[in-house]
Amino acid sequence: MKKNPETKDKSPKLVERLKGRVKSKAWIARGTPKEKEERIGSNTEEFKRADTQLQIEIEKRKWAEEELKKAREELERRVKERTAELVKTQEQLSKAVRILSVHKRQLRSMASHHTISEERERRKLAVYLHDNICQSLGVAKMKLDALRESGSPSDLIGSVDEVTQIIKSTIQDVRSVMVDLSPPVLHELGFEAALEWLAEQFHEQNGIPCGYENDQHPKPLDDDVRILLFQSVRELLINIIKHAQASKARITVLRKDDNIHVVVEDNGVGFKPSQYGSPMVVASGFGFFSIRERLSSIGGNMVIKSWKGKGSRVTLAAPLKRS
Ligand SMILES: Nc1ncnc2c1ncn2[C@@H]1O[C@H](COP(=O)(O)OP(=O)(O)OP(=O)(O)O)[C@@H](O)[C@H]1O
Ligand SMILES: [Mg+2]
Repeated sequence: MKKNPETKDKSPKLVERLKGRVKSKAWIARGTPKEKEERIGSNTEEFKRADTQLQIEIEKRKWAEEELKKAREELERRVKERTAELVKTQEQLSKAVRILSVHKRQLRSMASHHTISEERERRKLAVYLHDNICQSLGVAKMKLDALRESGSPSDLIGSVDEVTQIIKSTIQDVRSVMVDLSPPVLHELGFEAALEWLAEQFHEQNGIPCGYENDQHPKPLDDDVRILLFQSVRELLINIIKHAQASKARITVLRKDDNIHVVVEDNGVGFKPSQYGSPMVVASGFGFFSIRERLSSIGGNMVIKSWKGKGSRVTLAAPLKRS
């Protein structure tokens, strides 16, 4: 063990000093026996005092060395602690970098997925226009051509009726395509009415009853939030049709402080929700991931709750319009 520099140099000096106080043999040997006795007595006292002082100095040195040891141990402990903190921070940092790069990959993949699904939708629309609208208009044109060729007024009424019928059903087809692309109810009657309409449509088209509840509190929304929530609910309903095997569903819309909550539930097969929508998981689908990303960009969030065999509940939260 190293010596305390404070005490290291003091001891030899102290010994010298003490030596000076203890008188020499020659000094004691001088004088009468009584004087000698007195001198021996006083020297013994000096010895005792010197010994006590030496003991005190030794104790002080021991204490100082103890303190030094403690200080060194404390320093080592702090260095260890700090190193552990640094290692932890570094680990967190590399985890964040990993998440970020997966996220980046996911976003790139999501962008291309959107491009592909947009293209798929365009193709669907083109096929629909060809198979329904163009065919109907083609038949209507043929009827009019035949009418002109025939020149017979007796055929006129029948043909005009047929063409009118074709045009009527074509107009209906065009309307339903328009509604699918951008439901007017969302723009004309507002978000809550559009959700109710979605629930009815869902029931009509899939035969699965879909309830609708509204707490009736005012829920003013910005246009982008309204459209985003509407599209998200539509995606969640499509998920129910695709994955849930449910016999009923429900949409609930509530106001919670300065946020709107939209809850979409089903009583289907359920699933393990933890991984979906997380950037760490390259999930099979993009529905949840895309909803989560888009909601977070407007200050909202999505919570998925699901239990195997007991259905699912997805809650979308978004900020209300600031007045
Ligand atoms: N209501 C539900 N009931 C049961 N499982 C569900 C439900 N909703 C989602 N899932 C499960 O969660 C997965 C992820 O859903 P997500 O919408 O992200 O992708 P997807 O529907 O498979 O594909 P995409 O939305 O890209 O067409 C689904 O593949 C399905 O396994
Ligand atoms: Mg989906």
